[in-house]
Amino acid sequence: MTATRTAWHIPRYGRPEILTPVTLPMPQPGPKEVLIRIHASAVTRADGMMRKGEPLFARPFLGLRRPRNGLSGTGLSGEVLAVGHEVSRFAPGDMVFGEAGMRFGANASHICLDEDGVLMPKPDSLSHEDAAVLCDGVLTSWHFLRNLGEVQSGDRVLILGGAGSLGSAAVQIAAALGAEVTATSSARNTSFVASLGATRVIDYSSEEALQAGAGFDVIFDTLGVASFSAARPALAEAGRYLCPVLTLRRLPAIMFSSLVGRKRALFAAVGLEKPPRLQAMLSEILTQIDQDRLTPVLDRIYPLSDLIEAHAYVEAGHKRGNVVVV
Ligand SMILES: NC(=O)c1ccc[n+]([C@@H]2O[C@H](COP(=O)([O-])OP(=O)(O)OC[C@H]3O[C@@H](n4cnc5c(N)ncnc54)[C@H](OP(=O)(O)O)[C@@H]3O)[C@@H](O)[C@H]2O)c1
Repeated sequence: MTATRTAWHIPRYGRPEILTPVTLPMPQPGPKEVLIRIHASAVTRADGMMRKGEPLFARPFLGLRRPRNGLSGTGLSGEVLAVGHEVSRFAPGDMVFGEAGMRFGANASHICLDEDGVLMPKPDSLSHEDAAVLCDGVLTSWHFLRNLGEVQSGDRVLILGGAGSLGSAAVQIAAALGAEVTATSSARNTSFVASLGATRVIDYSSEEALQAGAGFDVIFDTLGVASFSAARPALAEAGRYLCPVLTLRRLPAIMFSSLVGRKRALFAAVGLEKPPRLQAMLSEILTQIDQDRLTPVLDRIYPLSDLIEAHAYVEAGHKRGNVVVV
């Protein structure tokens, strides 16, 4: 009997209900690949955007009329079952976590990934559920705050949206770097965001966070709820406005802010960084977790068979931290 795996197919762009469970032949690892039995995989805002084919200007890369790859999911954690004959970093039985990237297909029972891709040994102390979400909010916020924002001890940092996947990681990372952290959230998440390390939490329905003269060294707009021009007056002299959400309206500020004054608007697509750089960042993140300076936040855990419900929940925009399927 031929071995099979289960996965979720995206036959065309659309609502969560478009997701279709499929049974596929078990992939065989190539010379530099490892076959992984997936224990947990993330369901992220980015996964929802791939499913919808948004933003439209990304379709030349994603596929014009339907997703080019067609399978759902990117972040995962699991166990190595088999390795190709040129693989040297991993062996069967190893626990690993990482990111399928543009290969997709992490919301599945099995996957083959390149050993030189974004694939890391999973520490025993970290659950598969926690490890599966590291490449989303935690890795993204780490890159934005450490490498783009260059947050230093004593900096004044504002996190717009402190309760989501990026925000819950960003508050912890900025606090661990020694920054004085202000964050926004709804009233229901105030004490949760404060428990992550924010010294001040402002209700996002008020205009208070972006007051002129607030003097923030870094404003990290995790959800793209503001704009560079709205954030500018609240920035210090050489302050940085960081936003992971790229829109056509935000593009001119990102391209041209360096031409006027010292305040900057900065963007990065973290998934497009080279795997060795992402591996190095994940090693630093594992050290932070090991030192109890950072804990991934899990909101809901669904069975893999409930991927449609998981997508619908994420799309509602009110998750606290991260969502996984197991
Ligand atoms: N550039 C990159 O490389 C990159 C990588 C990963 C993700 N991203 C992008 O980053 C964005 C954020 O993703 P995420 O997963 O962190 O989001 P998320 O977890 O889905 O955000 C949900 C949270 O945002 C809160 N929220 C809603 N409206 C808000 C507002 N106006 N102000 C403050 N908080 C608000 C919600 O709180 P309530 O429920 O209390 O309303 C909820 O806790 C997405 O657009 C994603 O595509 C970019």
